[in-house]
Amino acid sequence: MKVVVTGGSGFVGREVVRQLRLAGHAVRVLGRNASPESGVEWVRGSILDFPNLPSVLVGFDVVIHLVGIISEVGDQTFERVHTSGTANVVQAARTAGVRRMIHMSALGTRPNAVARYHRSKWEAEEAVRRSGLAWTIFRPSLIYGPGDGFVTFFARLARWLPVLPIMGSGTHRIQPVAVEDVARCFAAAPGSSATVGQTYDLCGPEAFTFTEVMRIILAAAHRPRGLVHLPLPLARAQAALLEVVYPTIFGSAPPLNRDQIQMLQEDNVGDPGPAAQVFGFQPRPFAEELQRLFAGSEAPFSRTLSAQPTSKMP
Ligand SMILES: NC(=O)c1ccc[n+]([C@@H]2O[C@H](COP(=O)([O-])OP(=O)(O)OC[C@H]3O[C@@H](n4cnc5c(N)ncnc54)[C@H](OP(=O)(O)O)[C@@H]3O)[C@@H](O)[C@H]2O)c1
Repeated sequence: MKVVVTGGSGFVGREVVRQLRLAGHAVRVLGRNASPESGVEWVRGSILDFPNLPSVLVGFDVVIHLVGIISEVGDQTFERVHTSGTANVVQAARTAGVRRMIHMSALGTRPNAVARYHRSKWEAEEAVRRSGLAWTIFRPSLIYGPGDGFVTFFARLARWLPVLPIMGSGTHRIQPVAVEDVARCFAAAPGSSATVGQTYDLCGPEAFTFTEVMRIILAAAHRPRGLVHLPLPLARAQAALLEVVYPTIFGSAPPLNRDQIQMLQEDNVGDPGPAAQVFGFQPRPFAEELQRLFAGSEAPFSRTLSAQPTSKMP
């Protein structure tokens, strides 16, 4: 099949593209800056630039929509990227005659969520459900693997700090899922008519508290460190400051924002069973998989990218 992957140059996107190519699909990637795997057709452009989107999709069978942000900067707000951006992709797919859409959402997405990330992802899901396309929605918990922004971040922080921060109580549960397992579902979904109109949680086999997750990361990285609880008002104040300082001074998204802190104060767990059953796999256990990824290397979570865009969005 011919598949367009929006956000195919990102952490999850690179693994999705790799698995799609292994499965024999022709892949085109849409993204703004970062390059996808070399050898992949890359169209440079933004999903916020609607008039040019249909031309990117014309002649393709499937669109896998992965674009999303965890932090806002400039016009890349949650509402614009998740909600308006997804509406743009839906409309462009209809205009271009693409019939199948595989959509990346997130666990915890719901109409009245406190976090704007989750609320904007819900609006995006609604646009997909209303689209008239043959859709499938995936909702992963925290995704980890080479090139991720979470395990890598804390493992690196542990190089420099004697103690690592836990925002709030650290008792809320998450169910980390391996990027290979997530990508396997995205790569298999285009050929699976049974998954049309279905929404799947994507999560690992076990739920851990945030504190347990930090201990597992530190153990896998062989960095024994203490954990210190940061009171929530202090963590929020620090994040509010970073939200102003980073975009203003560095022109980039802050490393931590108040939405992320909010999401860490909620359980983020689901049922891995239905996806595991329909796609025929056992989700990888977090602690063992991290040990495997860290084994024998100081920097297993880094990748370098070098390709140039094949074309620009007209
Ligand atoms: N990582 C997790 O733990 C996790 C968990 C649940 C759900 N998700 C969801 O999974 C998806 C991928 O996450 P990720 O961790 O792979 O993020 P990522 O590494 O930041 O990748 C995001 C991708 O989107 C592209 N992008 C951003 N804004 C764009 C725009 N306006 N137009 C076109 N492309 C744009 C980025 O490329 P450019 O910047 O070059 O455009 C990049 O390829 C997101 O929807 C995220 O919400 C992630």
